[in-house]
Amino acid sequence: MKKQWWHGKTAYQIYPKSFCDSNGDGIGDLQGIISKLDYLKELGADILWLSPIYVSPLADQGYDIADYYRIDPRFGTMEDMDELIAEAKKRDMYILMDLVVNHCSDEHEWFKKACEDPDGKYGKYFYIETVKDGKLPCNWRSYFGGPVWDRLPGHEDKYYLHVFHKKQPDLNWENPELREEIYTMINWWLDKGLAGFRIDAIINIKKALPFKDYPADREDGLTSVQNMLHEAKGVGEFLGEMRDRTFLPHNAFTVGEVFNEKEEELPDFIGDNGYFSSMYDFEENIFGRSHQGWHKDTPITPDDYRNCVFRTQKKIGDIGFISNIIENHDEPRGVSRYIPEGDADDASKKMLATLYFLVRGLPWIYQGQEIGMENAPVRSIEEVDDISSIDEYKVALAAGVSEKEALHLVERYGRDNARTPFQWNDGNAAGFTDGTPWIRVNPNYTAINLESQRHDPDSVYNYYRKLIILRKNPLYSETLIYGELIPYLENEHNVMAYFRRSPGQTILVIANFQKERRTLPLPSPVKNVLLSNLPLEAASYTGTAVSLEGYQAAVLEI
Ligand code: GLC
Ligand code: CA
Repeated sequence: MKKQWWHGKTAYQIYPKSFCDSNGDGIGDLQGIISKLDYLKELGADILWLSPIYVSPLADQGYDIADYYRIDPRFGTMEDMDELIAEAKKRDMYILMDLVVNHCSDEHEWFKKACEDPDGKYGKYFYIETVKDGKLPCNWRSYFGGPVWDRLPGHEDKYYLHVFHKKQPDLNWENPELREEIYTMINWWLDKGLAGFRIDAIINIKKALPFKDYPADREDGLTSVQNMLHEAKGVGEFLGEMRDRTFLPHNAFTVGEVFNEKEEELPDFIGDNGYFSSMYDFEENIFGRSHQGWHKDTPITPDDYRNCVFRTQKKIGDIGFISNIIENHDEPRGVSRYIPEGDADDASKKMLATLYFLVRGLPWIYQGQEIGMENAPVRSIEEVDDISSIDEYKVALAAGVSEKEALHLVERYGRDNARTPFQWNDGNAAGFTDGTPWIRVNPNYTAINLESQRHDPDSVYNYYRKLIILRKNPLYSETLIYGELIPYLENEHNVMAYFRRSPGQTILVIANFQKERRTLPLPSPVKNVLLSNLPLEAASYTGTAVSLEGYQAAVLEI
């Protein structure tokens, strides 16, 4: 694997709507982000990904773009965006935008023109089919529920495809003219000085055609889009073309949201000349998911979590550099998910941080993760904004799950968990806005907020800073960034441990992933304690064993 400028960096995801509101309208915005750049610099973040801020009806919170060339006025102006890019540069930081090109909004002018003339130029930008006798072209179920087909406005017999929400019509990548439009747009943004993109839902751009049914996997007679994606061949031709026409000439950094990749294709995706610089590891995130819906999902245990992380690490090896996360804007908070219920506290949060941050790959922090933000309680389905939660709630009820339990599923898996406002302080709306926030604030903001942690050396926040500093420390960075990862005590219940090894140096990351204290064997004596989330006195380790408190994690040079 070739070394790249970004391998040693720390990446950070901003969900603009919920990060910081500068003008009191309750919606986070670009000026809010600019006002926090010094904070992000202090944390140690280098690469900042912004979830979409383009003009959008926000049916799916900006992942439904109505104009790729303009900033939504709710988030600010193009001048604000230019200012953000320039201010980031001054601080040696890099801005990534979200590239959402599997679909656009039904309010995009391309789609409006397609409705006016489905047989004309813009009709071919989408998948539009004529339907006779009410039989849809295929039985795929959209990710947000219901068939992927909806009637084309103004036409009785025509339907358009949307694998996500009905306000997100899929773009037809088979059409070279459409692809040209996309490349022009990407280059336009890169020319502005963006460092690159996070690339949304990209595996969906290749459909298995012609449309056909797959065996139904629920009583609705529909089938998960995944069943089609398993059969779709040739996405690499589109991705390679996009890379060659846009990212490569700009030397852009890109990270793909890739699910369902085929293992043999990994070198094509993130190898030295891959379609993307990196892609996310979703192994832990998809663990236990059922095609039936959230009510059939299996919660993840510490052993499952460890096994998922190691599976990815083994699969990737030295092929490329994976992107590691514990959460993002589509997932519940990592500390609420991967730490056994009831056990999330400062110690266990720091333990989880240590484990995911020091495996091989690029570490990403999702806004609020650095202060240990947790899932938010849901009192009723009316206060839920997330379209996927609302669908899953209905699916659960239809399957006979009680209202209370269905609500609990939304609390456990819902996307709103990550979208509640950043908790800056214990003032109005957690310091996110002077007005009324667009979405409820997590009631725990008086206990969990940045202000109370910023000057406390033992806070979760300052622990994240220590992790970032350690990974960048020239004495250890070669090992922590590029060193091989070798699992240790791989079959030990509730233990997650691994070596990072480079010629002449071995670092052991070892964690007791449970409440009860325990003693674990050491393969060789400790030379140096590089970090520990709880005090680790010299008396706690001998040459051959280390005794760890519940949820203690230690980083040891051996
Ligand atoms: C991605 C985004 C998600 C969005 C979907 C459709 O998965 O992360 O938020 O709903 O794509 O664009
Ligand atoms: Ca605002």
